[in-house]
Amino acid sequence: MMRWGERYRISIFGSSHGPEVGVEIEGIPAGRPIDVAQIQRELDRRRPVGRRLATKRHEEDQLIVDRGIVDGRSDGAFRAHVANQDVRREPYDRLRATPRPGHADYPARVRYGPDADLSGGGIFSGRMTVGLVIAGAIGRQLLQTLGMEFAAFTRAIGSVEAGVPEDLPLADLRARAASNEVACPIPEKAAAMEEEIAAARRDGDSVGGVVEVRVTGIPVGLGEPFFDSIESAIAHLAFSVPAVKGVEFGAGFSGARLRGSVHNDPFAWNDGRVVTLSNHAGGILGGLATGMPLVYRAAVKPTSSIARPQRTVDLERGVDTEIVVTGRHDPCIVPRAVVVLESIGAIALTDLALTGGFLP
Ligand SMILES: Cc1cc2nc3c(=O)[nH]c(=O)nc-3n(C[C@H](O)[C@H](O)[C@H](O)COP(=O)(O)O)c2cc1C
Repeated sequence: MMRWGERYRISIFGSSHGPEVGVEIEGIPAGRPIDVAQIQRELDRRRPVGRRLATKRHEEDQLIVDRGIVDGRSDGAFRAHVANQDVRREPYDRLRATPRPGHADYPARVRYGPDADLSGGGIFSGRMTVGLVIAGAIGRQLLQTLGMEFAAFTRAIGSVEAGVPEDLPLADLRARAASNEVACPIPEKAAAMEEEIAAARRDGDSVGGVVEVRVTGIPVGLGEPFFDSIESAIAHLAFSVPAVKGVEFGAGFSGARLRGSVHNDPFAWNDGRVVTLSNHAGGILGGLATGMPLVYRAAVKPTSSIARPQRTVDLERGVDTEIVVTGRHDPCIVPRAVVVLESIGAIALTDLALTGGFLP
């Protein structure tokens, strides 16, 4: 089932080329003001329209709230969707027997049989992330009342690294990331990233990259020990996002090369508050928030659907063959994954905030 959460329970529905995609949410505390226009603004960050470098599939992604908001306030059981408008099935029907390398087609065919609707990727499509963005936008509104703030950006595309200073205020980060097509806060690097994507497209190829998310204002102690650690919850949701192949927190994998004396973040008092003088922990110790910024990154693989001929198999005839994938695909999905990876953090933290009694 496509469900997640203990106290903030989300259930995503729909498919790429079905009538709609969306989300049902149980556990939103009743009577909270919910800003629907703000949810739409987050959905707009996920849309490819207007992005020169992106897919030619045009979706308006107009939010329709089916239930759960009365007079601008939550009433408990929420459901919202967006319609799939720009659906063209033909390119996918031709691929039925010949799975695309790097996409979900092959294991999905074996698991669900030849009649499963994998058009446009079916339930494996990036469009399913619409529901995550809606649930994340509501979660963020709830968490804002605790003083939590989010910023997400593209840290790398292909071989281009953004090099974003650790102490940039989140409002700055958000504004800078919103100012270009690749969601990179460093303008010269954004231009180099755009060129990296354009070059891949010219070659009939694709590129991947790294998304970084920073969250401030998390109450100290939020999170649950062991299985529901902040890392566990975020990693579970991040790995649910199609094309995510790696997740790290704080110093992450690079921390494995440090000595304890360097990796440990020393504590200090600052204005009557305990802080750490570095943040290799990424704001988490023992699965609980330290009060320092939460920092996580996700590695997004290069889009699997590329225009070049690729080797595959014909599942009906039992022979090796070649395919050229048609349809409309992004040569790089990283910029669109930015808001999705920010949203899953908001979902995870909302669930943990409700579980821990931080959000009454
Ligand atoms: C926002 C978003 C958009 C995506 N768009 C495409 C796309 O246009 N073409 C494609 O081949 N994959 C796309 N993907 C990735 C595939 O859905 C994914 O690679 C596939 O389902 C296989 O899953 P896996 O990569 O997690 O193993 C997208 C993913 C996201 C998050």
